[in-house]
Formats: sequence, C-alpha cells, structure tokens
Amino acid sequence: MKYDFETLVPRYGKGSFKWEELRSEDPNIPDDIVPLSVADMEFKTAPAIVEGLKKYLDETSLGYTRATDAYYEAVIDWMRRRHGFEPKREWFVQFSGIVPALRHIIGVFTKPGDGVLIMTPVYHQFRMVAEHNGCEIVESELLLKDGKYEIDFEDFAAKAARDDVKLCILCSPHNPVGRVWTKEELCKIADICLENNVYLLDDEIHSDLIMPGYHHVPMLSLDEKYHDNLLVCTSPGKTFNLAGMQASNIFVPNAERREAIEKARGHFSLNALSYKAVEFAYRDSEEWLDEAIAYIDGNRKFAIEFFRKHYPDVFISEMEGTYLLWVDLHSFGMTMEEQEKLLREKALLYVDEGYIFGKGGEGFERINIACPRHVLEAALVRLKTALDEYVKNKA
Ligand SMILES: Cc1ncc(COP(=O)(O)O)c(C=O)c1O
Repeated sequence: MKYDFETLVPRYGKGSFKWEELRSEDPNIPDDIVPLSVADMEFKTAPAIVEGLKKYLDETSLGYTRATDAYYEAVIDWMRRRHGFEPKREWFVQFSGIVPALRHIIGVFTKPGDGVLIMTPVYHQFRMVAEHNGCEIVESELLLKDGKYEIDFEDFAAKAARDDVKLCILCSPHNPVGRVWTKEELCKIADICLENNVYLLDDEIHSDLIMPGYHHVPMLSLDEKYHDNLLVCTSPGKTFNLAGMQASNIFVPNAERREAIEKARGHFSLNALSYKAVEFAYRDSEEWLDEAIAYIDGNRKFAIEFFRKHYPDVFISEMEGTYLLWVDLHSFGMTMEEQEKLLREKALLYVDEGYIFGKGGEGFERINIACPRHVLEAALVRLKTALDEYVKNKA
C-alpha cells in the first residue's frame, strides 16, 4: 500500500472527543487503549490534505472566506465521478455538519408535536435533533430476516401515512447495521414519502465507504419526480476523516425549501480551512480513500474471522458499507448492564452500546474498525479474555 494505515497517531491531550472523554472517565486508562466508539478514523490524514493546507496557510491570509469555484467543482466532480449524479450548484446549502443541519432543517419544517419517522436501530442523533425541536419520534424498526436487515415496508408505510408525520430521516448507507440500500428499496422509501407528503431528509454521510461487491445508489440519481420532496446530506467528514473540519454540503433541489432553510439560518460560511480541506479531499485524495476502503475491508474480514473462530454463535450484520461493525452478543445471555460493564471494565473496549440506537439495538455492540489492525486485534484479544472469563464463571 502506498499510504500508511498501520501507524497509530496517539490522540490523548489533542482534543479528540472520544479519547478525551475516555480519559476523563478513567484518568488511569493506559495510553495503548483506543476507544472504538465515535465514528472517526484512527488513520493519518491523507497527505494531499495535510500538504494542501500547509501550502494554503503559507500563501494566504485567513480573512472572511466563501466557497470558490474550485470548491464547487471539487464537490460536483466527486459526485459525478464516484456516484454518477451531478448536483446543481444552486442546490448547495452549507452547514458546519450534518447534525447541526438536520437540527436546523427539522426546526424549519415542523412544529412541536409533529412526528419524525426513523428506522431503528439508527444513528442516535436523529432522535436527539428531532426531540430538540419538540417533535415526536416515530420508530419503524428494521426487520432482521435470515441474517439480513430489511425495511418493514408495511409498518413504514402505515407510519408515513399518519397525519402527524411530517418528515422522515433516512440513513443511507445505514449506521449502525451497515446496509447499503438497493435501488428498489430506495425507490419504495421515496415513493411512500412522496405519496404521503412526508419530506425526506436523506443522510448519505457514509456513502463513500462502501465495501467491495456493494454499490451505493444516491437518491439524487433516481427519478427527478422525487427531487421536490427530498434533500440529501453529504460530507467528506467520514470519507476522509474530516469531522473536525466541520463541513457539509446539503443538496436541496426545491427552491422554496432551500430558501426557507437559508432564510432561517441567516448569513453563514464555513471557515477558510474547511473549504480548502474539502477541496483537497475530493479533488486530490481519491487514491487514499480507495486504499483506506481496502484496509477497512481487511479489518472487517479479520474481525469476522475472529468471531467465527472463537464464537460461531455470534451474529455479525454484513457490513456492506460504513466502518462500523454491528455485533450481536445476545448468545452470551448477559443482561444489558452486565454486558456494558464487561465491555468497558473488563475488556476496556470502548464501543457504542447498541441500545443507544433505539428499538432493536439492545444486546448489540457497534465496533468502529477504522483503526490500525494491531489496535483492532488487541481489542478483540481483550474481549476474548473477558468473555471467556464470564463464560467460565457462569458455568
Ligand atoms: C449517519 C450519520 N450522520 C451524521 C453524522 C455526523 O455528521 P456531522 O459530523 O457532519 O455532524 C454521523 C456521525 O457518526 C453519522 O453516522
């Protein structure tokens, strides 16, 4: 491989959200324990981004900055090249992240008490941003059929038809179960939303992280009849590990909707460095991403093999996309409290507990595998020691 995915960059004391949280929870945590929770990567930043930013800092001032033609071209070219659709320049609405965007957009298009439809288990912030706006969460639980997650379309359609349901937030690909939805599934979702006048907020933040053999279908590549009832959230945050740069592009094809969002948001621009980082990522770092995906796929196979060898009864959802492995530990028969305690205190495995993702998440763990393989291996070995001890003591 041309790029280095093996070197762990220590982040204690550097302001990393999850590393700092861990240290404040346990000040004695050894330096080699890496939290495998919050979805960012433990990889070095793509060199083209680092070098590009250094050069930019050398050559310019950091006064008020707006998006340049080069910025728009980098994003539009990326969507055309990697995803086969071309967002129009006027569709762009920028936010410092998808979570703040969703929080704002829900506020624009709902009033307190309105229903927001989500498919659980799903990224927990969907619930939080809706509830922040006083909305009621309407959950349609995914079905786990023959080892594969599916949308319960009967339930989804019934809930979308409710008078109080005004918005649906879709996670495509789906965090945490790892599904990359098919064209048929996406059309069905979009049709149901359209028929019921439920505005579809489609979060495609994980769309660049697709495992070999799978293909992400962007909503905006489907029939134009969906455009007025749809907005799509995109960001290089997951793709290139740029969450700390705080840049997202929301594509809102309908002009009235777009104006309503912009009017309520008021004047806004990203910061000077984030505009440039997005450009260096999408324009100059594609090769890095292809290698990162291959490396993550190697981690995926490594982890699956580990569980298959030691714990064949453990179900792992096929990680078709994202870098988040969704692992079912029900077979050990632990209570939720026991499981959480074992993972944190015995295995020192700081992952995300499945229950935070809503109905259907209980008993599962979400393991972030975007890290050097030796980090993943050490974590799985600690998990095995803790699980074996639990099984022995229970016997
Ligand atoms: C589905 C999904 N949407 C949004 C985000 C966060 O987006 P941002 O950092 O742009 O607010 C995450 C982060 O894990 C995510 O998984």
